[in-house]
Amino acid sequence: MKKFGKRLIGMTLASVMTFGLATGCTSGGNGNNGSNDAGGNTQTATEDKGASGDIQVGIVLPTKDEPRWLQDQKQFETILGDAGFTNQVLFSQGSSATEKTNVETLISKGIDVLIICAQDGAAASAAVEEAKEAGVTVIAYDRLITGTDAVDYYVTFDSFAVGEAQGQYLIDNAPAGSGIPLYLYAGASTDNNAFIFFEGAWSVLQPKVADGTFTIANSSEAEALKDSADLSREQVGKIIGQVTTDWDFNVAKSKAEANLTAVGADMKGDVLVLAPNDGTARSIADVFASDKDVTSYVVTGQDSEKASVQYIIDGKQSMTVFKDTRTLAADSVAMAVDILGGKTPATDTTYNNEKIDVPAKQTSIVVVTQDNVMQALIESGYYDASEFTGLQ
Ligand code: GAL
Repeated sequence: MKKFGKRLIGMTLASVMTFGLATGCTSGGNGNNGSNDAGGNTQTATEDKGASGDIQVGIVLPTKDEPRWLQDQKQFETILGDAGFTNQVLFSQGSSATEKTNVETLISKGIDVLIICAQDGAAASAAVEEAKEAGVTVIAYDRLITGTDAVDYYVTFDSFAVGEAQGQYLIDNAPAGSGIPLYLYAGASTDNNAFIFFEGAWSVLQPKVADGTFTIANSSEAEALKDSADLSREQVGKIIGQVTTDWDFNVAKSKAEANLTAVGADMKGDVLVLAPNDGTARSIADVFASDKDVTSYVVTGQDSEKASVQYIIDGKQSMTVFKDTRTLAADSVAMAVDILGGKTPATDTTYNNEKIDVPAKQTSIVVVTQDNVMQALIESGYYDASEFTGLQ
C-alpha cells in the first residue's frame, strides 16, 4: 500500500460523511476543482501527491450519456476534492474495453482504491482482477461485479426495494376492474441490478397477474410464468431478453412503439407501465402519450433525474425512485478512508456474486411523486426549486 497524503491522516470517517451529505447537487458550481479532458473525464489534484501525477482514488463510471452518472461524478469530485484526496473520474462510455483501459490507466497512476460502477457486471471481472494483482482495493459501486473474487466491497442501494416500490405504485394507482393491460420494461441484461429490480417488481405484480387483475401486454415469457412467484435467474433472463431497454432511451422508444403497434384495442385504454429508470420512462411515456387509443397511463421511473422530476410535476411521469447519490458516494469514500487508514470498512450485508459473498453497504430508497417532490428533493438540498417550473 502506497504512503498517502499528509492531509489524509487528519480526515476522519465522520468528516468525509459530513462533506458528502452537505454537498447538495444543485447545479450552482460544478464542484470540480481539477481539469477535464476531451472525454469529460476529470482529475482533481492537491498540491502534494497531485504533482507527481499519482492518484489515490480512481473512479470509473458507465457513461456520461445518462444524467444519473453525472450526478455521481459531481458528488465524488466534491467529496473527494474537499477531503484532500487525489482522484480521477473516468467514463467507460458503454464499452467494457474502454472500462478496462480506464482501470489500467488508473493503476498506472498508482491508485490505492478503485471505485467502479461496471458497464457489464461479468465482463468487468478481468479489469478488477488486474487491479487486484496490482494491490489495489476494489469497491463495486451501485452495480455488482460478478464471477470473480477480486471485489473487496460493494456499495449500493436496495435494488429489490426499488422494483418492489415501482410494482406497488402501479398496484396502488391502477384503475378499477380486471384484465388491466400491464406493459413491462427492464434494464440492460449486462447489469446485475436489472435482474434485482425486476425480481422486486415481480414479487408484488405477479399475484395481480395470476389472479387476472392485470394482463401482461408485451411479454409471452412473462405471461408463461404468471403463476410462478419465485423466478430463477434464467427465467428472469428470458423475460428481460424480451423487454430490455438496454438502459437506452432510443431502444425504449422503439420497443414501446412496436408493442403498441402489435396489440389490439383491448390492450389499450387505461394502462400500466413498468419502466425501469427515468431516462427510459420519459421515452416510453412520450410514446404512450401519443397513442390516441391509450386513454391514460401510469408509468414508473428511477433516479430522480431532473428532466423526470419536471415530467412528474407536469403529470407526464407518475413517480420516480430517489436514490441519494450523495449518500452512495459518501459511503464509498468513507470506505476508501478506512482502507487507506488500514482499517476494515463498516458493512451491513453481503451480496453473492456467484464466486464469493461480497461485504456490502446498502442504502434505502424513497418514492417520489408530485406530492413529495418539494420535501424529498428540494428541502433535502438535492435540487434547487429554481431548476423546475410549476413546482407547488
Ligand atoms: C442501474 C442503476 C440505476 C440506473 C441504471 C441506468 O444500474 O442502479 O440507477 O441508473 O443503471 O444506468
